[in-house]
Amino acid sequence: MRVIKWGIMGAGNIATKFATALRSMEHTELTAIASRNINKAEKFAERFHIKKSYGSYEELAKDEEIDVVYIATPHTEHKANGALCIVNNKGVLCEKPFTINKEESQYLIDLAAKHNVFLMEAMWTKFLPVTNTVKNWIREKKIGEVKHIRASFGYNTPYDINSRLYDPYTAGGALLDVGIYPITYACYLLDKLPDSISSSAIIGKSNVDEQNVIGLQFDNGVLANLSSAIAADTGDDAIIIGDKGKIHIPNFWNAQKAIVYNNEDVIVDTVELPFMSNGYEYEAEEVNVCLRQGKKQSSIHSLNDTLDIMKILDEIRKQWGLKYPQESE
Ligand SMILES: NC(=O)c1ccc[n+]([C@@H]2O[C@H](COP(=O)([O-])OP(=O)(O)OC[C@H]3O[C@@H](n4cnc5c(N)ncnc54)[C@H](OP(=O)(O)O)[C@@H]3O)[C@@H](O)[C@H]2O)c1
Repeated sequence: MRVIKWGIMGAGNIATKFATALRSMEHTELTAIASRNINKAEKFAERFHIKKSYGSYEELAKDEEIDVVYIATPHTEHKANGALCIVNNKGVLCEKPFTINKEESQYLIDLAAKHNVFLMEAMWTKFLPVTNTVKNWIREKKIGEVKHIRASFGYNTPYDINSRLYDPYTAGGALLDVGIYPITYACYLLDKLPDSISSSAIIGKSNVDEQNVIGLQFDNGVLANLSSAIAADTGDDAIIIGDKGKIHIPNFWNAQKAIVYNNEDVIVDTVELPFMSNGYEYEAEEVNVCLRQGKKQSSIHSLNDTLDIMKILDEIRKQWGLKYPQESE
């Protein structure tokens, strides 16, 4: 089987997790790491036994040996970093959120089409085996007709203007960091986009959303009650409520378990699917499969899916009157 050769751009927090996943996979080689700082790249390379380390992103993008680059930089860098890889004919797996708004996403998608290269947003939750089971349960009407979805992803991290989470110049705030998960999850499980969106947010002193609530209404009579936070521990469970029971997914965004209850609150089914590594291997395997098949996008998380979710995120921010500094003329 063809070995897929990966490079990682940006040697930060999520890059270490993704490197761990890649190192656990067969027919997969983590070939190069690029940081803006060569010492940092070398340390990362040593830790993960990577043969090439680069002190600039350009060198990675131009490396002829690399099939695909995983972009692990802050949201606001994704457009430029993605474009750098695409114009050098590299496939791209770009961290979520794909970009800070729909316009930037469309730019990358058009560029990838022009250069005929693979492109995907790293929305790893959609590739988890438990997510797949939950989606099948809903399709099979295990809980009857879905009526309501409740999902949150919120944690409490102290205010720090130097953190990308609170810094408006890195498009900080809850919506793009974690709010994207419950929104994507609800739309994916229902196979639908909402007809209407209502939302409110607490915008903090650094002008990013510290917490938010989002209501989505779908044309089949389903309501989704979603929320996210960086300044309040709202938990990270999802509950899908049907007319014949409900499904509880603890830690839905990195789920390894789901439980089905009937209307009497009795457990009628449970699935437990521990990760082979740390969960990031499933999205990486999707990329490997697509590249071996010559596909330019994933059918599980297509570029249209990314655009649809970006449109929702843009609409929500419009309701709050929230723009990032890069968006203001
Ligand atoms: N899928 C998930 O579960 C998950 C989890 C966490 C984060 N993420 C996403 O991954 C992305 C990175 O998040 P992270 O938590 O890994 O961030 P992080 O720890 O701050 O790392 C980001 C890295 O990007 C590079 N970088 C390039 N331009 C930068 C700039 N202007 N400012 C700061 N760093 C810059 C730096 O690497 P060098 O110094 O080596 O160049 C930095 O270490 C975000 O878009 C986030 O939404 C996804």
